[in-house]
Amino acid sequence: MQKSEIKIGFVTVSDRASRGEYEDLGGPAMQEWISKALTNEWTTVAKVIADEQSLIESTLIDMVDNEGCGLILTTGGTGPAKRDVTPEATEQVCDKILDGFAEQMRAVSLQYVPTAILSRQIAGTRGSCLIINLPGKPSAIGECLEAVFPAVPYCVDLIEGPYLETDDSFVKGFRPKHAKKPNA
Ligand code: MTE
Repeated sequence: MQKSEIKIGFVTVSDRASRGEYEDLGGPAMQEWISKALTNEWTTVAKVIADEQSLIESTLIDMVDNEGCGLILTTGGTGPAKRDVTPEATEQVCDKILDGFAEQMRAVSLQYVPTAILSRQIAGTRGSCLIINLPGKPSAIGECLEAVFPAVPYCVDLIEGPYLETDDSFVKGFRPKHAKKPNA
């Protein structure tokens, strides 16, 4: 049986990376993690943008409504600094907020670093797309994705996105028995 395809959006939110003052390490780190986690065919749309709420919102909307992304990962702009507005932008464009993702990411992150409490990262859905905020530090990307990714394939099923399959040696997606496709 042919596997489903998914388009994934990667958004780096950083004033300095968007001005070219430093290299975007977060975008490639997210893509590398996903390349190890998913066995589906996937295509990407990647953007590096400034910490401007309206720009983050329009980027997310475009990726979902025009590009057809089924999953979007953002990195950066989740902290308490004045310019950090990624969670506000994400909340604006989502129809449902999935609090459990943020709770789990912070709980697991606190095992790595006490300042994990500073991340206001959220996750939510817009139509058939799941959007997850990750902190800006590249090492935080894997730490957070590992914590929540087991629930991502079933979440995407529930919002009527493609059937996602994981490489279980890297991260094991969990589905209730009734939701598993027989030959997958
Ligand atoms: N979460 C994990 N897993 N690992 C980390 O190193 N860094 C924290 C936190 N969450 C961190 C983390 C720090 S220092 C900050 S300031 C916040 O994420 C917000 O980061 P951001 O503004 O770059 O999104």
